[in-house]
Amino acid sequence: MQPKPSIVHLPVYQPGKPIEDVKRELGLDKVIKLASNENPFGCSPKAKEAIIRELDQLSLYPDGAAISLTEEVAKRNGVRPDQIIFGCGSDEVIEMIAKAFFLPGDETVMATHTFSQYRHNAEVEGAVIVEAEMKDGTHDLDAMLAKVTDKTKIVWICNPNNPTGTMLPHQTVADFLNKISAEILVVLDEAYIEYVTAPDFPNGLELLKQHKNLILLRTFSKIYGLAALRIGYGIGHPDIIKLVAQVRPPFNTTRTAQAAALAAIQDVEFVARCREANAEGIQYLTGEFDRMGLRHFPAHGNFIMVEVGRPSKDVFDALLRKGYIIRAGHALGFPTSIRVTVGSREQNEGFIAALSEVLAQSAVEA
Ligand SMILES: Cc1ncc(COP(=O)(O)O)c(C=O)c1O
Repeated sequence: MQPKPSIVHLPVYQPGKPIEDVKRELGLDKVIKLASNENPFGCSPKAKEAIIRELDQLSLYPDGAAISLTEEVAKRNGVRPDQIIFGCGSDEVIEMIAKAFFLPGDETVMATHTFSQYRHNAEVEGAVIVEAEMKDGTHDLDAMLAKVTDKTKIVWICNPNNPTGTMLPHQTVADFLNKISAEILVVLDEAYIEYVTAPDFPNGLELLKQHKNLILLRTFSKIYGLAALRIGYGIGHPDIIKLVAQVRPPFNTTRTAQAAALAAIQDVEFVARCREANAEGIQYLTGEFDRMGLRHFPAHGNFIMVEVGRPSKDVFDALLRKGYIIRAGHALGFPTSIRVTVGSREQNEGFIAALSEVLAQSAVEA
């Protein structure tokens, strides 16, 4: 059998250890996962009620085009329904974009340390990855523009950026879009948009009015707390969305996911509470990092990348033994940093206590 040459070298995605496995292996009663930028407060109770109402319909296929949800999301974003496409997570929207646009040998520009799925899906399609260095953990759009050639098909911008948490302001993104050829698709991934409190965060919907080549990515996995249901979406020009829709599998989002997302997006109080708690968590955690003398990137999402001055894997293992799962930075391009998701107040305080012990212990051992 001959597989596609472009996939032969690709690693199989390695998920983090499930909480139950960590408990059993380490003999711990309580394990806190602050590793995948999930919502520590779960999801809206209204989303749970909507899922229960769907249970009688499980024998029926979902509405492939997610019409009710599309209409609600369109209304809330001031766009037309034909400007929206849903995916099985925004992961699948990334996959569909790659599938719809890349031919082998096309080039695609992205930052050196950004969300892994842009690279992965581009590689599957045989595209050539062109990376641009970042400045202080932030996308350098001038450097990215300098990497554009007549072979470039797609440029990926993650804002706030995963894994660094940094953000580009509106004018910087607007200037970039004014300079780049309208023939090149620009994907602006806004997975963490609902957490951002900075007033100069880009208004992607405004930019979309002037730039047909822009597509925004959003998700219900983060502030809406529905990561398990796998639902995210793209917003773009109807012509672009139609092309992406042409490669969409027929029933790619489930009934339960659609119903939960519809209820979740209407529960604005839940979202506001999570956003506020997250801002308090960022303030607390960054304050503690400053007090401990640990450098960190400015955090605009629901996670912080902090420099711990030791091999990240050692700090990861030591925190795991204390019942905290975080992301070690080595796999993300930051070998002496860790990425921690903002938890509830209690989780954040417990994490800081555990980290302080781990760092004090490793200082003694050094
Ligand atoms: C920047 C970014 N984009 C997209 C995703 C994918 O999210 P999902 O597929 O759960 O919608 C993530 C998940 O961590 C992310 O961090």
